[in-house]
Amino acid sequence: MAHVLVLPGDGIGPEIVAEAVKVLGALTKKYGLSLTLSEGLVGGASIDAHGVPLTEATLAQAQAADAVLLGAVGGPKWDGLPMSDRPEKGLLGLRKGMNLFANLRPAILYPQLTHASSLKPEIVSGLDLLIVRELTGGIYFGQPRGVRTLDNGERQGYNTLVYSESEIERIAHVAFQAAQKRGKQVCSIDKSNVLETTALWKEVVTRVAAQYPDVTLSHMLVDNAAMQLVKAPKQFDVMLTDNMFGDILSDEASMLTGSIGMLASASLNEQSKGMYEPSHGSAPDIAGKGLANPIATILSAAMMLRYSLGAPEHAARIEGAVGKVLDAGLRTGDIWTEGCQKVSTSQMGDAIADAL
Ligand code: IPM
Ligand code: MG
Repeated sequence: MAHVLVLPGDGIGPEIVAEAVKVLGALTKKYGLSLTLSEGLVGGASIDAHGVPLTEATLAQAQAADAVLLGAVGGPKWDGLPMSDRPEKGLLGLRKGMNLFANLRPAILYPQLTHASSLKPEIVSGLDLLIVRELTGGIYFGQPRGVRTLDNGERQGYNTLVYSESEIERIAHVAFQAAQKRGKQVCSIDKSNVLETTALWKEVVTRVAAQYPDVTLSHMLVDNAAMQLVKAPKQFDVMLTDNMFGDILSDEASMLTGSIGMLASASLNEQSKGMYEPSHGSAPDIAGKGLANPIATILSAAMMLRYSLGAPEHAARIEGAVGKVLDAGLRTGDIWTEGCQKVSTSQMGDAIADAL
């Protein structure tokens, strides 16, 4: 039986993960999905209990599980900690420790939410793009890094943007293979007019493209890509990015879909073992109030069933149920528009579980 490690984390994490677990439970009851779940601590919750954002025992459990379902980490309570001890290090430790180099972030506009988008309907309706973000390299992990004191007594911060050819190659393959199953276009994002690392990125991606003659490759500078995403987002099929550009552009893309509360993500290693989490953060300002949108986490659970647990039929059931509930006009506050019924986090989870 497949085993999933559930790591709710901080802020709204526990509330939204509870709704995804509810939906998985309903699949078990109605359709016989067989799954064992165990729960652990990560981020601030782990700092409070164990003094570190990720214990070795939790990382070992994550490595042993078939998949990890994560909520979100971080919050003002832990903001004063040094960089190396912050909740975010728990998340980064899981990504690195499980070798989850490929992060898939689909930005899909549900037709029911066209009017919740910040862009005009004609610009966003039908939007379906996939950001393929490199997740275990680049400036997030590059050495050397830190804050040093110069001879004149002034402090200087420094980070390193590094990518080796093999790191670029393997994420490029993921993007091209994803594109083969979709619109057959990859747009690779770089800043090759300024940064050597991303000029190498562009060169290596171009080389890998030769193995995928059925996919069209284009290149775009990251600043232009940020602009094009709000100008004409439907021009994109698969966007291939490094770690930091993908972090930034995926938040931007998520807003096109009405709310960042709708965006799921999968982070995969070479064996398609993965961690699944909403693309949004822990939203400490609304934590515990029943205001959070659980759909991104519920859709992440669907991605988990599809990519790591070999159960695409169950994934489709969840996705269908989300569509039905949106059709019925139920909305959490972040996607609410006039004429719809405003519901809480758990009411949304209940409705999706019922609609399965
Ligand atoms: C994300 C988040 C993380 C990141 C943070 C919480 C470390 O913003 O998953 O996009 O920067 O990767
Ligand atoms: Mg981010």
